Amino acid sequence: MWVAAVARSVKRFYILWLYAVTLMAFAVASIHSTLEEDRLRAEAESRAAALAISIEDSVVSDFNAKHLNRIAKLVQRLRMQQRVLGLTLCPEAQTPQERSTLRRARPPVGFPRGAGWESLCRSPMARKSGAKNTDVHWTANDMKRQFLYYAHPITLTPDSANVSHATTLIVVYDISYLRGRWFQSFVRMLLLSWISGAAVLLLATAQLRTALKSQLRHIHQTVRSLVAGRPPLPLPPSELPPDLQPISKDMDKLVAKVLSLADFRTVHLSQEKDSTWLTSLRKSMKNRKLIVIANREPYIHQYAGAQIQVIRPASGLVTALEPILRQCGGLWIAHGSGSADVETADAQGEIAVPPSHPTYTLRRVWLTKEEEAGYYYGFANEGLWPLCHLAHTRPIFRLSDWNHYRAANQKFSDAVPESALGEDSLILVQDYHFALLPRMLKERKRKTADATAVSPKIGIFWHIPWPNPEAFGICPWNQELLRGMLGADVIGFHTQYHCNNFLETCNRYLEARIDWENFSVTMENHTTFVRAFPIGIDTTPVRSITEQEREQLKAHYGIKAEWVAVGVDRMDYTKGLLERVEAVERFLEKNPKYVGKFTFVQMGSPSRSNIAAYRTMVDELVAAVQRVNNRFTSRFSRTGYRPVILLPQHHDWTEIRYFYQLGDICLVTSLHDGMNLVAKEYVWCQRPDRGSLILSKFTGASRELTEAFIVNPYSIEEMADAIAASLMLPAEERERRMTALREKVQARNAYHWASDLISALIRKDDKVPTKPVDARVDSEHHANPPTLPSRNSPGEPLAPIENTPA
Ligand code: F6P
Repeated sequence: MWVAAVARSVKRFYILWLYAVTLMAFAVASIHSTLEEDRLRAEAESRAAALAISIEDSVVSDFNAKHLNRIAKLVQRLRMQQRVLGLTLCPEAQTPQERSTLRRARPPVGFPRGAGWESLCRSPMARKSGAKNTDVHWTANDMKRQFLYYAHPITLTPDSANVSHATTLIVVYDISYLRGRWFQSFVRMLLLSWISGAAVLLLATAQLRTALKSQLRHIHQTVRSLVAGRPPLPLPPSELPPDLQPISKDMDKLVAKVLSLADFRTVHLSQEKDSTWLTSLRKSMKNRKLIVIANREPYIHQYAGAQIQVIRPASGLVTALEPILRQCGGLWIAHGSGSADVETADAQGEIAVPPSHPTYTLRRVWLTKEEEAGYYYGFANEGLWPLCHLAHTRPIFRLSDWNHYRAANQKFSDAVPESALGEDSLILVQDYHFALLPRMLKERKRKTADATAVSPKIGIFWHIPWPNPEAFGICPWNQELLRGMLGADVIGFHTQYHCNNFLETCNRYLEARIDWENFSVTMENHTTFVRAFPIGIDTTPVRSITEQEREQLKAHYGIKAEWVAVGVDRMDYTKGLLERVEAVERFLEKNPKYVGKFTFVQMGSPSRSNIAAYRTMVDELVAAVQRVNNRFTSRFSRTGYRPVILLPQHHDWTEIRYFYQLGDICLVTSLHDGMNLVAKEYVWCQRPDRGSLILSKFTGASRELTEAFIVNPYSIEEMADAIAASLMLPAEERERRMTALREKVQARNAYHWASDLISALIRKDDKVPTKPVDARVDSEHHANPPTLPSRNSPGEPLAPIENTPA
């Protein structure tokens, strides 16, 4: 129906336009031809003036000599050459004799009928010329013709007495042709204006059609993707006229809403045929209930004006764990940090998620601003974060922050339902926010009525690096942290190197027995196993973008270059973002042929901006980007080329997965990183024959992804050369590397990680000497090899976790 309405209004528009253009053409044509007529008339007048002056002498002498036939011949000649009809003489004071002489001088032919010389000489204009002794001209019409009269005063001496007579010479022109000219010019102009109007309309229609067509094609693709359960590509910047732009904006909002409602990743996952890992994970679970405790919640409800938006945070932890919860069900306990979190949860702070088709429960823990400042920003992120990352930012330890950290850990421990403290539960504590939680949970269990019953299995996974004992030793509460963690049954790190550091740290600061054969720590009759579980991503297939979509995306991000490098990070000082921009600068400096042809685009989601070190880093990054752009863009001011584009806002997975595919290169140059899932996501989103990964040797991912260009992020030179080398890589070599990387990412996905972690927890109790935990010693990769000798050779499986007294 709306199509017919649109067609009707388009028809009405064209009819209206037809009227308007016709009217306009008439007006333009009549103005133009009148002006043209005026011009021709003025031309005839000046011709008449020139003629009157030029024949004055010969007429006077012929008249005085009484050679009237010569005057007649002159008129005849003039008639043939010009449009002169005739001429006459009008004496001022005429005697009968003079009149008769003059009558004989009347031109013989062509004198206008009805305008005989006598009456002409009596006309007011002829008299005026004679009286004022000045040239005068005027026009007159009969039925058929139009005349121009030009009166020019002269002096005659026709008698022997030499008496002079003032006389007026009147030249008569035929200017009837002016009407014809007016009509011709009118028709010509009418046609011209009408054709120009039509051309303008056709051009405008064509341009509008192109703009509408590409927008409609996108809208169509978007709708088709949504119907098929696929996340659509972001719509390109709107080229629609301003009146229609709200459609495009509403479409963007609709897509965002549908995506948040339908959770497309789940739809995809459930369609996945090959769910080997899922099956093995479910088997490992043995019907146990899964409880995840993580500071970051998987779904944040946020006010955007009066509307509530659902946000998926930029977090590797969420990326890896959320698919597991969706598939296995259970409970996720997290800090409710969104501005609309309270409104969307029930009285217990619970909400079923994913929002559109819930499969597990999210329980939100409420923290005051003060608690959040002390526990999260303070102790966790100004203390432990810089302590564990070797990025040369000094950790800050405040007693008040430590107190908030302890209190917050207690609050999260209390948030675990009593029913979850039984043996049929698996509690997975996540990250450095909750080092004290495993022990607190064990103690809480001891205080319950059911204290003698078997405890739940508790694991803690540390997503960031673990430093060497000296570095860790500067924390004033290092022993409390270690004791807290050792309340767990299994402690996981991404790499064996970090496991070794942890065991050494326990050895150094605790009265505990370290078993270097089994990689375990026993303290107060409780044994904790320490294992490497390299985390992976959700390897649901990602649709490859077409070449046309690639061009659309480039336009969307304002990329004017042929070669594109991408980066996707939280804006954190550990990610090496400044060094990355400097490397791009150096690369362009060393390879000037790439200036104008290479752009690096960094997606940077704002992170922890309450902390001064983060704000400073972002300011420095923005300044560095500006500096590099100023340096290289002067030659390209017209094209809009920029060598570095910073997109400093939150982007969701739907957008990121296609953004990765734009990157001929992905730069992952963290100064230090537990694993870094961006490296794995980039590889997974790429086609096997496209793209290169440049990866910092100080990330956990570099231990697995050895086909990447492994670089030292502190060496700007090395990174610049790696960019050049990856751009010049032969196609077969690029494909070989990317294929190998993709196989590795797929083989160790998020289910593999969760399945290994959960199996390790269960095995401990069930005395099942099954498949060993697939952790490998990889210290040879690290720039600072541990002082501890490797317990296993690289690639050699570790001993299985065996049962020990609790
Ligand atoms: O890297 C450690 C980590 O906790 C990740 O697990 C997570 O991706 C990231 O930090 C997110 O940080 P935050 O929750 O403070 O934004």
